[in-house]
Amino acid sequence: MTIEDIDRQFVFHPFTNVRSHEQTGPLTVVSGAGSTIVDASGRSYLDAMAGLWCVNVGYGNVELAEALGRQAKKLAYYHSFASMGNEPVAELAQRLISMAPGSMSKVFFGNSGSDANDTQVKMVWYYNNVLGRPEKKKIISRDRGYHGVTVMAASLCGLPGMHRAFDLPLSTVRHVRAPRRLWSDDADLDDAQLVAALAADLERTILDEGPDTVAAFIAEPIQAAGGVIVPPPGYFPAIQEVLRRYDVLMIADEVVCGFGRTGHTFGSDVFGIEPDLMTVAKGVTSAYIPLSACLVSEKVWDVLRDGADAFGVFQHGYTYSAHPLAAATAIANLNIIEDGKLTQQAAARGEYLNSKLQQAFAQHPMVVDVRGFGLLGAVEFAASREPLTAFEPIGSFSGPIVARMRELGVISRALPNSDSISFSPPFVVTEEEIDQMVATARQALDDVCSAMHLVP
Ligand SMILES: Cc1ncc(COP(=O)(O)O)c(C=O)c1O
Repeated sequence: MTIEDIDRQFVFHPFTNVRSHEQTGPLTVVSGAGSTIVDASGRSYLDAMAGLWCVNVGYGNVELAEALGRQAKKLAYYHSFASMGNEPVAELAQRLISMAPGSMSKVFFGNSGSDANDTQVKMVWYYNNVLGRPEKKKIISRDRGYHGVTVMAASLCGLPGMHRAFDLPLSTVRHVRAPRRLWSDDADLDDAQLVAALAADLERTILDEGPDTVAAFIAEPIQAAGGVIVPPPGYFPAIQEVLRRYDVLMIADEVVCGFGRTGHTFGSDVFGIEPDLMTVAKGVTSAYIPLSACLVSEKVWDVLRDGADAFGVFQHGYTYSAHPLAAATAIANLNIIEDGKLTQQAAARGEYLNSKLQQAFAQHPMVVDVRGFGLLGAVEFAASREPLTAFEPIGSFSGPIVARMRELGVISRALPNSDSISFSPPFVVTEEEIDQMVATARQALDDVCSAMHLVP
């Protein structure tokens, strides 16, 4: 049996059509270097997505692998329950607090963006229980948001496909509109009008629900998986004004944006977000090992601390919370980003990527939007611009494009519930590699158009 046969027979793949996987099998990735991955047959692909928006320092970074190995030899594991500590975790927590915006106080570690967002919600509920506000528990998130797949994190997502088959969302979650004009009734609004409309939408939702029942709002600075949706100027300050009026906490989900992806350390720094709680994962270790963290502000911590009087031990935590291997890897990763000025490099390469995407796609008749910020980009397609008409079913155009791109040697992603393809390469991507990614995407668009007998 080949490794592909074994995979087909035994592996249950996430976010995969399991029936077609039984026929097609996996693309087995065996190695990587920089922005390139190599499959089991020896074929190379440029990875325009850095895995899942996460391998920020690129594949095959020996310094990072060695830091991981050194810590594994010294202390591979110890838990952090009941006041147990380890050196890398203390050092990393201090480092994260020193980097974070606002007045952050404490770091709670987990293993994935999903579990961290679950922790955030539990902390918010705990906070309001300590404050004697047992009704103040609802969480507001946004359409097209992506926050993970655990029962609560999936509920927070604003992607219907993640709810339908799983009896979600939970009854404590509400969704408001995403900050985008395309496909919305807000198409003709200018930035200031759009911001005012979205802030009013949030306020109406809070008032309809009852401010005494609304605990927190969660948002990605840039909605990544939901379509690379960049908020208009002034959006987060206007949203936060509403949140403050009704004593609703702000959770910034920095899982994709954090640690340089926007060309700045955090998306919160760019978009004027003042988080009470902040979630990080992915880029904190460049995905060399799983790690996530919830950063807790002084304001929230002051209340959580009082929880010890009301509830005793804080009864939440994972076997792998504060894992020393993950923490040592994160420290090495942050050093590589800082020493190599990779955040600045991401900003420069992002500008290059986005200008190349504009040049290659903006005028194409099947393209309705080319957008991006930092080292994030997306191209969105529609069956017709005038009148604006979606492909039927949705995703039936972007799917073949990324499949064709893969045949041509570049990995992109068709984003869910949309006909968009995305770009989020490693920070070490070169301009020549960006040229190749964009040219391949354009070639794939032309090939799919001619296969579907659409105008070129
Ligand atoms: C913004 C955001 N939050 C949370 C998550 C969930 O992270 P994980 O897949 O590590 O659970 C993701 C994953 O893509 C994400 O993009």
